[in-house]
Amino acid sequence: MKVLLLGKNGQVGWELQRALAPLGEVIALDRYGLNQWFGDLTQPDQIYQTIVELSPDVVVNASAYTAVDLAESDQETADLVNHWAVKKIAEACVQIGALFVHYSTDYVFNGVGQIAFNEIDKVEPLNIYGKTKALGEQAIQDSCCNYLIFRTSWVFAQRGKNFLKTMLTLAQQREELSIIDDQIGAPTSAELIADISVHAIIQTLQDATKVGIYHLVASGETSWFEYANYVFEQAKSLGAELAIQKVNPIPTTVYPTPAKRPHNSRLNNQKIQQAFQIGLPDWKVHVQRTVIEVLGK
Ligand SMILES: NC(=O)c1ccc[n+]([C@@H]2O[C@H](COP(=O)([O-])OP(=O)(O)OC[C@H]3O[C@@H](n4cnc5c(N)ncnc54)[C@H](OP(=O)(O)O)[C@@H]3O)[C@@H](O)[C@H]2O)c1
Repeated sequence: MKVLLLGKNGQVGWELQRALAPLGEVIALDRYGLNQWFGDLTQPDQIYQTIVELSPDVVVNASAYTAVDLAESDQETADLVNHWAVKKIAEACVQIGALFVHYSTDYVFNGVGQIAFNEIDKVEPLNIYGKTKALGEQAIQDSCCNYLIFRTSWVFAQRGKNFLKTMLTLAQQREELSIIDDQIGAPTSAELIADISVHAIIQTLQDATKVGIYHLVASGETSWFEYANYVFEQAKSLGAELAIQKVNPIPTTVYPTPAKRPHNSRLNNQKIQQAFQIGLPDWKVHVQRTVIEVLGK
């Protein structure tokens, strides 16, 4: 089997390089491409050409414009990468009959209420990043390609930039931190996303009725405030020397950002568990592992 991976160096892309390897030949590209192959999503026509010429069985797109706040002032690039390039990838997948695997976000929802969003709930993004991701999803669905879209949330990994690593660094430098406690979601590891993706790819290639959109998030829920406290607890239990003495819970209104963020980022993960006969672990399981990895314990 031939697999094309786009965005090989992102948090999820890096883990996918590992997880996809047993499927066969994996051609992994970053934005700089490889030989004659293009990997830059700001060049949708070249991406299309690359996919058609390589003719893989599966295209996995882990690349995205993920700078949520920057997207507010750089809508054009965000839209090009998260929407127009994704549309072109879907069209190329139709052309060659490949399965298209793509990632989306909790930010496609408006975050109203306390109940976890289902796959069929109406999308109503609050910010530009969410809008461009929602348009990307729609373009895939309209293209009639075979697809798996995995919506995930609060991604972390040992590699890359993420909240978990930022908190560990800040806790080593500062005695007091104020952290938002009125946004609720599920921290989900890139490792889990990659492993479940491969599991789903294998099953979908055998049974095309499994194509569709799924919420791929760890089980359970937390706020950024509780999440940070859990990270600090774990780090201390491993003997890490932290400067942090006091952690204050604050509402979103105290920490304004260019992009508005949803209060309710809960995604219901029942559908993916039933469709692929898997159990998704509690978010704490992989947070614990990652704290150990980041601290080198
Ligand atoms: N991070 C989260 O908390 C989160 C939450 C919900 C959903 N998601 C979704 O999950 C997926 C994976 O996210 P992630 O956390 O792995 O993101 P990430 O670590 O920010 O990685 C994104 C990758 O996309 C690449 N990229 C950006 N612009 C590109 C372009 N023009 N051409 C080619 N590659 C480009 C980046 O390359 P460079 O390193 O060269 O910039 C980076 O390797 C994305 O679809 C994202 O929307 C993420």
